[in-house]
Amino acid sequence: MKGMVFVELLQMAEQAMGEEAVDDIIESCDLPSGGAYSAVGNYPCAELMTLVQAFSAHTGAPENDLQRAFGRWMHERFVVSYPAFFRDKPDALAMLAAIEGEVHVEVRKLYPDVELPTFETERLSPRVLRLTYRSPRPLSDFCHGLVEGCLDHFGRAAVIERRDLSRPGESVAEFTITLAA
Ligand code: HEM
Repeated sequence: MKGMVFVELLQMAEQAMGEEAVDDIIESCDLPSGGAYSAVGNYPCAELMTLVQAFSAHTGAPENDLQRAFGRWMHERFVVSYPAFFRDKPDALAMLAAIEGEVHVEVRKLYPDVELPTFETERLSPRVLRLTYRSPRPLSDFCHGLVEGCLDHFGRAAVIERRDLSRPGESVAEFTITLAA
């Protein structure tokens, strides 16, 4: 997993808990990397899970809520760092439908070692998109937060239904996203 993801997680945590508490938590986690992340480096996803677990223990917030909040946070960062991807999309459904075939394709050109999930999309009607997330990493809640962040960014109310279809070794989440009429 890219270092930039860890850098952002620690920034979100610092905003919520303060730098000192985050430093103490990182230390208590005894991470192989020592918790010093370079945005361009690569680190095991297991370290992200360890950090989220430790932040959850410290704050009392469930891990899945923290992952989801982090997805929303990350989406805001993507909008700031990569505005071009968002500019030509008419709405959130168009953006979400373009991740697999356009956005993440460009991301892979920039960072050939990136670990990305796969998405299948099906347009059920002009207002409804079904997005199926698959990944060897347990990040369905992070994905949920990214979808919410994307809907917020485009500013049209929507309902997200989620079905968890995970099986051993693979996280699978099916999101059915309906834009308000
Ligand atoms: C400009 C927009 C975007 C950029 C630049 C971008 C880039 C990235 C990058 C760099 C990663 C990390 C991979 C790694 O750590 O090795 C990632 C992961 C991911 N992205 Fe995107 N992304 C964008 C938009 C989105 C949106 C809108 C979604 C909404 C569904 C999304 C879903 C995900 C998910 C779920 C993961 C991680 C899940 C996993 O590894 O299983 N991305 N993306």
